Amino acid sequence: MRRAHDGFQQRYGVPPAGVWAAPGRVNLIGEHTDYNDGFVLPFALPHRTVVAAGPAKAAGEAEPGWTVWSEQSGEEIAFGVAEADRPGAVDGWGGYVAGVVWALRDAGYAVPAARLAIASDVPLGAGLSSSAALEAAVLTALADLGGIGTDRLPVDRRPALAQRAENGYAGVPCGIMDQSASIRCRAGHALFLDCRSLDVEHVPFDLAEAGLAVLVIDTRAPHRHVSGEYAARRAACERAAGLLGVPALRDVPADGLPAALDRLPDDPTRRRVRHVVTENHRVRETVALLRSGRIREIGPLLTASHASMRDDFEITVPEVDVAVTAALAGGAYGARMTGGGFGGCVLALVDADAADRVAATVGAAYANHGFPPPTFFTALPCAGAERIH
Ligand code: GLA
Repeated sequence: MRRAHDGFQQRYGVPPAGVWAAPGRVNLIGEHTDYNDGFVLPFALPHRTVVAAGPAKAAGEAEPGWTVWSEQSGEEIAFGVAEADRPGAVDGWGGYVAGVVWALRDAGYAVPAARLAIASDVPLGAGLSSSAALEAAVLTALADLGGIGTDRLPVDRRPALAQRAENGYAGVPCGIMDQSASIRCRAGHALFLDCRSLDVEHVPFDLAEAGLAVLVIDTRAPHRHVSGEYAARRAACERAAGLLGVPALRDVPADGLPAALDRLPDDPTRRRVRHVVTENHRVRETVALLRSGRIREIGPLLTASHASMRDDFEITVPEVDVAVTAALAGGAYGARMTGGGFGGCVLALVDADAADRVAATVGAAYANHGFPPPTFFTALPCAGAERIH
């Protein structure tokens, strides 16, 4: 909070009008289901992107515009209406900020000219949704600054706008999970989101009370071909839904899977479909267990989700597979890669007092394989985007 606030003050010589924050996320289960109109179950991390914001310098300036300083990159960028209205005109991290301005304006909202200072402790490139956290923090800040309250822009409509910034302005074909997590999560709960209706249920996920922790292992594996492979998976799913004559793979029920697979032309397509259909089913089973407080029992579902991503959806890499195997050997109840894949983070459900032991087992396995050492943290479910000052 202080870094963004003080950065604003130093940079612009006045205090900000307010400070807003939005978190990164891990996804407990439900991977590559969001763009198939399916189910996901993320929770918000304590790591957040913080935006200090205030009005632009002089009301009488020639053209309204936005000035944005990022502590992380040390850069200051500025863009006006012309760039905000032309998708792709601002690139890099600034594209996510300009994309939010574009999405808001395109939806008919008057976005105030503003100065922003941004600081973040969401790890970059680790699959923990640093870009969604940036979009969500900027969206929440600009909406508040412009007097666009939840009456005019309800919280359940905000994730789609942030997603639009990413899809339509930055050109990344992601689904709606990450932005929903960053905006709609609640402390102590996982967010059960129906990605078609956008209905949510805040499912109690009180790890601390159960003596549990989620150990997040940042494999630091270099992301390989992420965007191309992601787009290819998405296209394969959409093609398969077309072949099956359903609007989306969400419409293939688990008990209809064998019949659906029989109608598909090739083995890779069958495996992509099997992942999505079984993953949706695992999300619902996980939610059912959490509703009755049986947290430890979700472990096998997490591990089954990983196997499905590895064998059917084919989005894992050796580093994440080694981390999952080692975490289980070290005593985790379940473990899986989280996020889009091809690197990023693994999460493991562990007894809180066993987290260090599991981490040590994973670290030793990495050393044996000659992989660079991973990093670790434990995470409890935190709050979504909010004004903090
Ligand atoms: C990325 C995307 C999400 C989702 C996940 C996979 O995080 O941004 O929309 O598709 O991958 O579950």
